[in-house]
Amino acid sequence: MPGSRITALGHHQPARVLTNADLEDMVDTTDEWIRRRTGIAARHLADGSVADLATEAAAKALAGAGLEPGEIGMIVVATCSAIDRCPSIAAQVAGRLGIPAAVCFDLNNGCAGFCTALATADHAVQAGAARHALVVGAEKMSDVTDWTDRGTCVLLGDGAGAAVLSASGTAAVGPVVWGSDPTRRHLVRLVDEWRPAFAQDGQSVFRWAVQELPAVAAEACARAGIATTDLAGVVTHQANLRIVEALTDRLDLRADVAIGRDVVDSGNTSAASVPLALSKMVARGELPPGEPVLLFAFGGGLSWAGQVVTCP
Ligand code: UT7
Repeated sequence: MPGSRITALGHHQPARVLTNADLEDMVDTTDEWIRRRTGIAARHLADGSVADLATEAAAKALAGAGLEPGEIGMIVVATCSAIDRCPSIAAQVAGRLGIPAAVCFDLNNGCAGFCTALATADHAVQAGAARHALVVGAEKMSDVTDWTDRGTCVLLGDGAGAAVLSASGTAAVGPVVWGSDPTRRHLVRLVDEWRPAFAQDGQSVFRWAVQELPAVAAEACARAGIATTDLAGVVTHQANLRIVEALTDRLDLRADVAIGRDVVDSGNTSAASVPLALSKMVARGELPPGEPVLLFAFGGGLSWAGQVVTCP
């Protein structure tokens, strides 16, 4: 059965950094509280749009893959923060990068969006509907942040990550595990008031993530035909360093596994968090090419999606 392979990655973060010290001047919080409860030290804020962030990351992935724009047959952008809906962010990326005739669409599955988009593109490539796809996670969470709410504004950041996915004789993107629990859909939401703002029942989501999701993440490995001890890397959704640690502690991992901890420098960038962390780890040489890496994300819905990929 033919499959797909990630051939290149790219990421983009705006230059402007908001530190915990900056937040101390904005709301009733402390650097100590933010670090102890979330692990976050800083987050990046964009002046431009979600389309700007997505295009920057996609351009880097496209250049890394060495493909001509005309070879891309599909663009999927995972985002929940894009306020401009039509044309889609994917179509805006296509226009700016000169990609002439790809099918373009955005996908909203909250923070699980990138892993959902990766699976969707993988299925399309397997079905022969596209040979090369651009899969992007891009968020401007600062547009949907209530900057007076200390419970949420310290968590969120802006950024984008992208992957080029190409048809391959071997399946280097494993079977997806994905699903949702709609009885918990109220726990993470964008509340529409004078403008949409991120809100969540943090403790309930925290408990759900660390108690119920390790088994689902392990299932992604089983479905890929590997043991968790075979993993060279684990990149989960970057919501809170305590969740990253608790989730990975509950998986049977080897001592030298590389774990994504980008939340420290980037905060929670929702659908961008997994490709952003993955692309940075690959750029730093922390993930050996050809080795299996578990991608696993979760969030609004409540939803989850994950798969084992071979590191490019
Ligand atoms: O990406 C989508 C999925 N989301 C997640 O995975 C998030 C999961 N949840 C979490 O990461 C954590 O629950 C949070 C980081 C959101 C919150 O941490 P927590 O340890 O659960 O804190 P809490 O909300 O229970 O608040 C504890 C206390 C409260 O004060 P009282 O009621 O104990 O007096 C809050 O008012 O901390 C207070 N607090 C703060 N204090 C200083 C809340 N935010 C802040 C703050 N600075 N920024």
